[in-house]
Amino acid sequence: MNHSPRSGRVRVATNILVSLLILFLAPRSSAQATVSSPPPLLLGTEWYPEQWPESSWDADLAFMQQSGVHMVRVGEFAWSRMEPEEAKYDFDWLDRAITGAAKHNIYTVIGTPTAAPPAWLTQKYPETLRMNEDGRRDQHGNREQYNFANPKYRELARKIAEQLAKRFGHNPHVLGWQIDNEYEMASYDPETKAQFHQWLKARYGTLENLNARWTTAYWSQSYTAWDQIPIQVRYGNPGLLLSWMRFVSDTWRSYQKNQLEVLRTNSEPSKFITTNTMGWFDGYDHYVVEQDLDLAAWDDYVGEGHLDPVKNGFAHDLTRGFKQKNFWVMETQPGSVNWAGVNNALGKGEVRAMAWHAVGHGADTVSYWQWRSALNGQEQYHGTLLGADGTPVPLYAEVAQVGKDFEKAGPFLAGTSVKAEVAILHSYDSRWAINLQRHNKNYDPNVELGSYYAALRPIAQSVDVLPATANLSPYKLVVAPGLNVLSSAAAKNLIAYVRDGGHLVLGQRSGMKDDDNGLQPERQPGPLGELLGGRVEQYYALNDPVPIAGQWGPGESPFWAELLSAKDKDTEVLMRYGKSNGWLDGQPAAITRKVGKGHITYIGAWLDPKTMASAAKWMATISSVSTPLPNVPPGVEASVRQGPRGAVYILVNLSQQAQTISLPTPMGDVLEGSSKSSVNLPV
Ligand code: GLA
Repeated sequence: MNHSPRSGRVRVATNILVSLLILFLAPRSSAQATVSSPPPLLLGTEWYPEQWPESSWDADLAFMQQSGVHMVRVGEFAWSRMEPEEAKYDFDWLDRAITGAAKHNIYTVIGTPTAAPPAWLTQKYPETLRMNEDGRRDQHGNREQYNFANPKYRELARKIAEQLAKRFGHNPHVLGWQIDNEYEMASYDPETKAQFHQWLKARYGTLENLNARWTTAYWSQSYTAWDQIPIQVRYGNPGLLLSWMRFVSDTWRSYQKNQLEVLRTNSEPSKFITTNTMGWFDGYDHYVVEQDLDLAAWDDYVGEGHLDPVKNGFAHDLTRGFKQKNFWVMETQPGSVNWAGVNNALGKGEVRAMAWHAVGHGADTVSYWQWRSALNGQEQYHGTLLGADGTPVPLYAEVAQVGKDFEKAGPFLAGTSVKAEVAILHSYDSRWAINLQRHNKNYDPNVELGSYYAALRPIAQSVDVLPATANLSPYKLVVAPGLNVLSSAAAKNLIAYVRDGGHLVLGQRSGMKDDDNGLQPERQPGPLGELLGGRVEQYYALNDPVPIAGQWGPGESPFWAELLSAKDKDTEVLMRYGKSNGWLDGQPAAITRKVGKGHITYIGAWLDPKTMASAAKWMATISSVSTPLPNVPPGVEASVRQGPRGAVYILVNLSQQAQTISLPTPMGDVLEGSSKSSVNLPV
């Protein structure tokens, strides 16, 4: 996935029949926006009023309004300001900030401040500080130093969230809540360990069962008491390692629930509850944690370099899959960050391209972190829209352009969402299992997933990323690269999908492990082997790429090769290995079988980009996957959002050259207001 996108230009086009209808609706201008209804496409920013004298707020808010900002997220690190002493709450300043913003037609999202506990709290209750793996307690002075499992911390977190909800849960200018900020770090203290033992007891019932499921006869690991079980995070029994990650996921869920309950009870039901996640971060299973929220939101940072539309688009699609609906970009970078090796700025036009890229993938809000450089604190060098002096930086004008775009396009995009014919299955269990035992250090399960996505996305122009237990009936093609841990529920779901006429493509290392990270008693793909009419005879970690040839042309498999066998007479061999280690020479590398109206395919090779591109074409063709907007040249990303009134196409030119695309039917250019049968996308 090597892209070198630079400055981007966007065009948003909507089918003309639809646009004629829509054009009768007056698009809202910023002057018409009212606090009783937020615009459908929301431009936002992260604002920290607690860092500034109140006398300066209005000037900041006026600049926000001028740029088309209609949302501020506030409060997520302001605990010491909200509760300067235990149980002494001060929310008046926040009330004034919310009211002040509303005067500028700006809505507020309130972050509960629990990612940054005040100094009095950790001094008074040192047990609330998290413990590192080496037994060292974290200190005050950064953030996220709390222990997510500690009952005292949870009690104090619940109280502040409850007070906030009581005060602002019915405020018409408040749109919703963000709980905490970027859940990240677990704690390894004795209290958390005891909770882990309870969790294991609840899952396994008896030690006898646990010992059997984990095969603890291996290396004398058999346990005779729950408290003998260690916490292991990198090297250890695979059943134990996976259990710890699942415990961490459930603990984040209950950490979140603790606040969520009081927010729900004390707020109007219309106020959403979300948290901001970090793309592919795998410190916990997001499918577990997101199930209780109303909305998925993530923090979209490029860091060093430039927008990689495939990598970034994949992360958007991952986030959209958490709730299987439109999501928010809760934070994104205004030009540059401060935490990368080289904190280069995005090129002129790239921030705007990134905003539209996000909308194309289903974002309804794009919000910039942060509004204005704080005078002091750890992030002085981070990109902002205003300098510390309170006046706009050069990027402000580009973000104001995004604000104008959103005003124009919002009415067309209202009620639209991404509808995909292709789904890629993603599993935290499988990623953990592979990463814990890569077997070839170069085997990155995310890169494997991404290689399928990169080839399928330009064909389908929308791809959903889902867990293996999701409802798969809407999809013509379901791809499961690296579905290493296959629970019986997931296996049942996949078998039913194929029997109902779907096309399931399994990638390397699929169906190898059971729900406890133990080897399946059958060879890969375990419970799916019968349906496939074939299996993996042996897997090989590779030093050198192995040649492959067949239906998808000649190519090579780096890192990994699985020697397949086609046992059933209906199982067809699609690709074979060339000369390599002797064992693989001439053996099947990809097989497929037709099952009624459905298909099941197993790809045992890691496909190089060219071979993957032709494999993707093959998959799409035999599954009748459509390309909504044909003839889109490389370097231009096309996305489609569909709604009751028609389709909206979003084209982002991330190449270094001007592009012309002829449209299959005349469409209205929403940004320019004209009808077109071809669009020019300048550099
Ligand atoms: C994260 C945090 C923000 C800020 C940014 C900086 O996303 O949520 O508070 O630190 O990073 O890039």
